[in-house]
Amino acid sequence: MQEAGVNLVSLAIFAWSRIQPDHDSWDFDWLDRIMGMLHEGGVRVNLATATASPPPWLSHAHPEMLPVLADGTRLWHGARQHYCPSSPVYRVEAGRLVEAIAERYGHHPALAMWHVGNEFGCHVPACYCDVSAQGFRAWLKERYGSIDDLNRAWGTDFWSQRYSDWEEIIPPRRTPTWPNPSQQLDYMRFSSDALLECYELEHKVLSRLTPDIPVTTNFMSFFKPLDYWKWAKNEDVVSNDSYPDPSDPESSMKAAMAGDLMRSLGGGRPWILMEQTTNRVNWREVNAPKPPGLMRLWSYQALARGADGVMFFQWRQSRAGAEKFHSAMVPHGPVASSPAWHEVVRLGKEFRGLDVVGDTRAHAEVTILFDWESWWALELPSKPSSAVRQIDQIEALYRPLYDANVMVDFAHPAADLSRYRLVLAPSLYLVTDEATANIEAFVAAGGVVLMTFFSGIVDDRDHIHLGGYPKPFQDLLGLRVVDFHPLPSGQDVGVLFADGFLARGSLWSENIEVNDAEVVATFASGDLAGRPAITARQHEGGSAFYMGTCPDGMATARVLQLACSRAGITPAAETPQGVEAVRRGAKGKSILFLLNHRDVAVEVPINEPGTSLIDGSDVHRGLLRLEARGVAVLREGW
Ligand code: GAL
Repeated sequence: MQEAGVNLVSLAIFAWSRIQPDHDSWDFDWLDRIMGMLHEGGVRVNLATATASPPPWLSHAHPEMLPVLADGTRLWHGARQHYCPSSPVYRVEAGRLVEAIAERYGHHPALAMWHVGNEFGCHVPACYCDVSAQGFRAWLKERYGSIDDLNRAWGTDFWSQRYSDWEEIIPPRRTPTWPNPSQQLDYMRFSSDALLECYELEHKVLSRLTPDIPVTTNFMSFFKPLDYWKWAKNEDVVSNDSYPDPSDPESSMKAAMAGDLMRSLGGGRPWILMEQTTNRVNWREVNAPKPPGLMRLWSYQALARGADGVMFFQWRQSRAGAEKFHSAMVPHGPVASSPAWHEVVRLGKEFRGLDVVGDTRAHAEVTILFDWESWWALELPSKPSSAVRQIDQIEALYRPLYDANVMVDFAHPAADLSRYRLVLAPSLYLVTDEATANIEAFVAAGGVVLMTFFSGIVDDRDHIHLGGYPKPFQDLLGLRVVDFHPLPSGQDVGVLFADGFLARGSLWSENIEVNDAEVVATFASGDLAGRPAITARQHEGGSAFYMGTCPDGMATARVLQLACSRAGITPAAETPQGVEAVRRGAKGKSILFLLNHRDVAVEVPINEPGTSLIDGSDVHRGLLRLEARGVAVLREGW
């Protein structure tokens, strides 16, 4: 570990059955020994609460704590995460375990941070058992107060679903056809909250026993089942697990986007890349290895996007168990012949010289409005098009900005937007009055908004905002959508810009009636030929762009360029294709990260002379050569 520059270890994540071999016995000797060894070696510990995989003795004695799927299938022990989040037995026993661990190690000199559970919801995001049903009813009583209000919120007159007693209400289990959408939406909220209660239960024990030790739990990038905005409020440090597929050419973009989300979840505070591979995972159909340099490159990318720590799953490759073919820092074979080991050692050495990066932050002037509740509601079935997926629509706007080296944050639609100049709202289907007022105020104060189709359609009960689509934003955008014309897969439509540039739109089109907006582009083929496709409304303060289709990449980039130039946004640097440029800064210090995602060397124009933080060399104006998957971290002018 010292050779690799390891200074923090996550420990005992799946050790419950080792620590507590039965209900009344505890075995801490082995853990005492490891904690002691790490301490002597100068390595700190991110100690797990070990609650992610209950021991077989517990579920054997209490099979009712095992989770149940929507179709009634019970999931058994023998893998991991086999617990119903609402189970009182699980919660009591998890609480006991955390208490015992915190009492034993809360003042251990090696302890740096608590790691609660592990990847909450990863395998079992929701449980549909009778205990969960009870929990759901209690949650609904809290939310609605009366059964009449619940009936109204769920629109239960439709299909004779009216409830006359709380006891009749169950989770959205398997039904003959679509369960009530408002019920499904509430079940997603409830399930995220039920797991959050498990986290909170542990967090409370930890903050009572060790108020000065920071607490984290590892997130999973854009993980749909958990509303991480709510979760992140209860974490001292946001941490993330990131496993982009090395064989997917878009992985760098996706990893950048996940990093931006983590930074945003923490309100700009530094986050930790908690898990990544040195090389291969074991859980895809085909597990391509990382080519030389890619692990190092993606580690630097995390730093560039605001992480102050980079860790790996896992230290030593296991000999047995379901993950024995997952790569590790120490492989099955000798380290000397492992390229991944050498890359880890190199990274560890380089990171020792990068402390100064921790004094800086990554900042964005553009933000994407992102709301888990809207994502859940958007992707419930029975829509004009089930091909409209939230992450695809976010990526459609993120991609051109990533390619242009424009840094992007994510923000909840009701969050303070005053620090941004440009706000993007990709298919923001569900909006509350609060969010609507927030977006309007942002434009009134001079901000630029770019909204895309199927935004502002429903309220937080998944009821249509009546009065023509998108009712909340008709004034803001200066238009009304008469009806949706979604496009079948493989069918696209011409989109003609005012200057003659012809593009294609896919996935979606719609019949737009403009009241007071400039038409940036019109549909050029199909039923809607000649009608507006992309518009912009000038306000006294800022402006509001709208796209009624999903234009091809070049056309989207064009609209974003227009929006950026209205908002006065400039890129971090101009770089050749495939080279990512990101700046971190603070108090007159500026650090430029240049990341070559290509598998050939490139030359990058440098405008500001600087010093390489990796090897101390001077970097002059002119062209800087970056090797294939090479990295430069430059101190600019200080
Ligand atoms: C994560 C998990 C680790 C390990 C890893 C494999 O989901 O936290 O325990 O399973 O994936 O890639």
